[in-house]
Amino acid sequence: MENHLIIEKKEAIGIIAIDRPSKLNALNAEVIEALSGAIKDFHYNPNIRVIILTGSGEKAFVAGADIAAFSKFGPAEGQALASQGQLDLFNLIEQGPTPVIAAINGYALGGGLELAMACHMRLAASTAKMGLPEVSLGLIPGYGGTQRLPQLIGKGRANELIFSGQMIGAQTALEYGLVNKVVALEELMSSAEALALKIAQQSPTAISAAIEAVNAGFDPTQNGYEVEIKAFGNLFGSPDFIEGTTAFLEKRKANFSGKK
Ligand code: COA
Repeated sequence: MENHLIIEKKEAIGIIAIDRPSKLNALNAEVIEALSGAIKDFHYNPNIRVIILTGSGEKAFVAGADIAAFSKFGPAEGQALASQGQLDLFNLIEQGPTPVIAAINGYALGGGLELAMACHMRLAASTAKMGLPEVSLGLIPGYGGTQRLPQLIGKGRANELIFSGQMIGAQTALEYGLVNKVVALEELMSSAEALALKIAQQSPTAISAAIEAVNAGFDPTQNGYEVEIKAFGNLFGSPDFIEGTTAFLEKRKANFSGKK
């Protein structure tokens, strides 16, 4: 089985590049399994405080789920594809303890844009193109796109993109709030690493609590305010809280111990 990933560690930053250039990094079962494993490894690694996810090459972040792989599927297999993928990869990214930055270096289409949207932040190269073209295949997005796109850009704009299947460029994505920042392609990884470094200096315990509280607000089964109150209170018992407040009072930089 080919792995199709390039994995690198740069101090506290874990970098994963999806590397299947002949198919524009399209997500097949092997890529999803490998990505899921790599993300889990980084979640469990106490030294990795931020993950950057990108595509190898200059053309594509990920051009979608692998159309050839599912073209003969029936309804039950289609449903299993979506539910397994959401559980194994997309939710794992969104709900894990480690913040994930998507560095969108080219086409982010269908499952590729859904993958970027499951990440906590998105930076895009000025040449990137994004869209959810599933309706052109007689499908709808199945990796959370109908939920996360409206959360990020509002229902009207999300409906327009989902119903028309049209692609938008990086600048429009920035205006819509779909990406946090647009930079030249050559500066994409250095910008993502600069952001990752800032995040890596903060309390990892607090950041994972923030991920949980923010996500709770988008989960209809939870009360986000209550989750926030509980997580806020719990942090008063954490070594990072002692270190952070002591460092402030001693007028020095905090040195947080690492992820749990
Ligand atoms: N699934 C499977 N293979 C894909 C793919 C996908 N989502 N996206 C691209 N590829 C493959 C192409 O089939 C082609 O393979 P081949 O050389 O063996 O024929 C290769 O990647 C290069 O793509 P190509 O279409 O030749 O590049 P292009 O520059 O002409 O067009 C895109 C680029 C992104 C516009 C076009 O590839 C495309 O529309 N891809 C599908 C996007 C999509 O619908 N994604 C949602 C899937 S749910």
